[in-house]
Parts: sequence; structure tokens; C-alpha cells
Amino acid sequence: MTQSLPFHYRRSALHCEQVPLARLAHRFGTPLYVYSRTAIVERYRAFDRAVRSQPHTLCYSVKANSNLSLLQLLAGEGAGFDVVSGGELERVFAAAPRAARRTVFSGVGKTTAEMDLALRAGILLFNVESEAELELLAARATRLRKKARVALRVNPDVRAETHPYIATGQRQHKFGVPMIQARALYRRAAQEKYLEVAGVSVHIGSQILRLAPFSTAMRRVAALVRSLRADGHHIRYVDSGGGLGIEYRHSHVDAGASPALPAYARAILGPLRGLNVHLLLEPGRALVGPAGLLLARVLYRKSSGRRRFLVLDAAMNDLMRPALYGAYHEIVPAVLASPSRNEKRATRSFDVVGPICETGDIFARNRQLSPLQEGDLVALLDAGAYGMSLASNYNSRPRPAEVLVSGRSARLIRRRETARDLMRPELASHPNR
Ligand code: LLP
Repeated sequence: MTQSLPFHYRRSALHCEQVPLARLAHRFGTPLYVYSRTAIVERYRAFDRAVRSQPHTLCYSVKANSNLSLLQLLAGEGAGFDVVSGGELERVFAAAPRAARRTVFSGVGKTTAEMDLALRAGILLFNVESEAELELLAARATRLRKKARVALRVNPDVRAETHPYIATGQRQHKFGVPMIQARALYRRAAQEKYLEVAGVSVHIGSQILRLAPFSTAMRRVAALVRSLRADGHHIRYVDSGGGLGIEYRHSHVDAGASPALPAYARAILGPLRGLNVHLLLEPGRALVGPAGLLLARVLYRKSSGRRRFLVLDAAMNDLMRPALYGAYHEIVPAVLASPSRNEKRATRSFDVVGPICETGDIFARNRQLSPLQEGDLVALLDAGAYGMSLASNYNSRPRPAEVLVSGRSARLIRRRETARDLMRPELASHPNR
């Protein structure tokens, strides 16, 4: 991908596009998620271009970052959506009602209410993950007299070589239908008046950096498409899922290594050659991950034995990936120390932690950083995907605000929560309300 870098230093100050991060911190407070509009649009377009030789729809995976403004932005670029809950579908309705027709619904535990919602909206495709789900969907579609286009999400039994929590394509995982059961289930689906057998879908995991697992999965899917057609099914769609990884380790913030999109496209498209299908893709992280960062302030420095800690005002509730997966995020200062100071004091090793009452509330261990002071701002990079969407209110911490930067302007796209917001749904009698 040739892209302008969303985050870069100018005169020692880290900027998002044309806006210094320090200014955003001053205006909106910290912790703060900051996204680059240009980066999101460029990443979407590059992805779209990479697969242009095949009729396709990019169904952005809403779980990666479900902010309404980002959904609206992507819908404006022509994106469809991949949702895994009624809540995510409601977000698509709210952001871009017409995009419901370009939306696919995945997930192993769809409820009756969620199915009804999706049936009424006339979504593009249900990715069905079990026989029991197929039966329920047939019953609901019949009851509502709404035709459901279905694909089975098959489990191709491919190892994705990623963190065990986010690999999904092997036999022992809860996802999808085993390949050998697929033909019988398609036969069953074809008997239902309100089900329209329309596609085959697959998703083998997330943050995958090697391409071989993608092409293996797609070869298995292509073989299945051929046998389903031989069985008389009209297979129009292949949904290849998401999963393309990004580079979390940069040697420098300006490096911004990008995934090899053309190679990924070849891995997916190669096995489909000659099949004449409409390809659906469900990228999440690859579109928004590198386009966002989490801005935080150093509250305290402290040491204990030989360990030096930087305590930030952001915590694991704001960005869960390091605590949950041991994930690595670059941490860089929002303002570079002046060269003279730099020379005198080289980098030092810090444990970067949050204020939450858990030992696991740690962003980085033994990280070499320039000597940061209390009050300094730091940025945790590549936090645009699975940052805010995984955030919680643990320790009754209001979730961060989110800002979308475009050129010289910055727009608040989610205000910071307040303690009152957090308490509102609770029913206990409350003397002060
Ligand atoms: N489609 C399906 C059916 C999925 O389950 C997922 C992600 C995607 C698409 C999008 O995958 P992506 O292109 O973003 O890799 N919280 C974890 C990632 C969990 C991914 C779950 N499913 C993390 O922070 O790394």
C-alpha cells in the first residue's frame, strides 16, 4: 500500500495528519482515541483496489471499531458490513440504513430476536454456523415470510498461526460447520422455501501474517463450491472472512510497515479463478488498526527494586489487547526530547502500566523509552482496531473520548463517558437522582 503516514513527527511534535496530538490532549483530555480519516479511507481504497479483478464487496467487520462515524465514513466509500450481533446491526441501521443490504451476519450464537431483526432488514447473507441454527433460521424466516439468503460458515481445519484466542479455523474451535457435514446441510437448507442457498463462507482467525493458511482455506472452499454446484445448488457468493494482520512492531513511528495487500489478494483470489462468484471480504483490523492510536498522559513515575514504572492515565479497560493477548503496541512520546537532552540521557527501561487494581494492567514490560516525565504525553500506536471496541468500565472508569482527524480539523466522534453515564442503567434507589 502506498499511503501517507497518518502519524508523524513534525518539529519534534507527533501529529495526526496536520494536528499536533498535544493540542488534542489539551482540547479533549486523555485518555483519548485519535483516528486519521485519511488513513482509513486510503486503507479501504487500497484493499478495494487489491481485489478489483474479482466482483466483490468489502464488508467491514464492525467489531474492530464500531463507532458510528467510522461506519458512516466506510459506508460512504461503498463498504458493506460484517456484524455478529443485533447490537452491531443496529449500529449499521443508525449509521447507514441502506448498507443493511450489504451486510453479512456471522456468529455461533444468533438469537431468535437477532435473526428476526436481520430478516426484516433484508440483509445480504446469513453465515450459518450449525445445523441447529439452520433449523431456527428456517423457522423464523418461514414465520416472518422473509427469504433468508444463507451461506454455511465452514470450518476448513486450517491452522492460522496467530494467538490461540483469535484462531478460529481448526476442528477443535467452536466456529463453523465441519467440511464433511457441509453437503448434507446444504441439501437440508435447499428443502426450505424461505431459505435461499447462496454462498459459502469461511474465517480462519485474526492477525494472520502468513498467507499460506488463507490460500489453503480458499482452496478447500473452492472445492466445496464445485461439489455444491454439482449437487445442483446455486452458489453465488464466497465470503473469505477477515484476518489479514498488521505490523505492530515498528522501529520508528514513521516506518508504518503495511501488509502485503497484493500478495494477500493473490492468496484469496487464486483458488477462486474460473468460479464466477461474487467475493465478500470481512476485513477489520487491516482497515482501521494502524489508523488509530490511544493518547495517554504519564501520571507518575515510581520504582520498586530494579523496576521502573510509568503509570499512565490509560489502563487495560481502555486498551485491553496487551493484558488479554500479551499484545505488543509501540509506545512513543508525543513530543520528542530535544537532541541535546537525548544525548545526555539515553533511553531507559520502563514497565508501562495503568491505574487498575490488577497486576495484569500492563501495556509494556521492560520497554526502552526516552526518559519520560510526569505530565508527558505518550501514544500507544496501532490501536484503531479492537481498542475502543473492547474497552470496558472496569474499576468504574469512564471510557475514553474518540476524535476523528481530517487534515487540519479534529472532530469529537464520541464524547468521554461520565460517572453518571455509567450508573444510569442501574435500578437501585439512589438518593441523589
Ligand atoms: N469476520 C469474522 C467472522 C470474525 O470473527 C472477525 C474477527 C473478522 C471478520 C475480522 O477480523 P480482522 O480482519 O479484524 O482480523 N480482539 C482480537 C481480535 C478478535 C477477532 C475476532 N474476529 C484482537 O484484539 O486481536
